[in-house]
Amino acid sequence: MTIVQEAKKQDFEEIQKIINIGVIEGKILKRTKKEIQMLIKQKNLIVAKEEDKIVGLVALDYYSKRFSELRTLFILPEYRSNGIGGLLVNALLQKAKKKKIKEIMTITTKETAEWFKKHNFGEAAHGLKVALFKEI
Ligand SMILES: CC(C)(COP(=O)(O)OP(=O)(O)OC[C@H]1O[C@@H](n2cnc3c(N)ncnc32)[C@H](O)[C@@H]1OP(=O)(O)O)[C@@H](O)C(=O)NCCC(=O)NCCS
Repeated sequence: MTIVQEAKKQDFEEIQKIINIGVIEGKILKRTKKEIQMLIKQKNLIVAKEEDKIVGLVALDYYSKRFSELRTLFILPEYRSNGIGGLLVNALLQKAKKKKIKEIMTITTKETAEWFKKHNFGEAAHGLKVALFKEI
């Protein structure tokens, strides 16, 4: 059974290892030790556990009530396609709602954008706002 819960202080090392696997896979960006500790402290890091082992995670980078970011969504490869990513995204959205956040954005690859669309993420917020990028 998969348990989805806020990360605890004692989860730190396991979380760091999983993030590093994701960074090596080229799917998520690095996080410093300080950032991870801060996310745990602020209860903005959610983990999925199977038999007490962390198998996936997601973070909420809180900027303001109007705007925050879903980041560091990563499921260990052998645990994918079991609905765990969906469970984590739903838990994060519930947390955001409690904080009265109105918009959540995420930056991802074109490939994974399709997955997010299945979870009701769209390319424009409220039909008005879009994200634009410039390489410099
Ligand atoms: C994307 C990811 C989070 C999905 O997690 P998951 O637990 O496998 O998701 P779910 O089980 O809820 O959904 C899996 C379904 O989505 C599909 N899927 C997986 N990756 C997909 C993608 N990139 N695009 C479209 N569909 C995708 C799977 O084929 C699967 O479909 P199936 O059930 O018919 O086999 C996971 O694959 C992952 O950790 N990927 C690497 C990290 C990453 O890309 N993170 C996003 C950075 S913000």
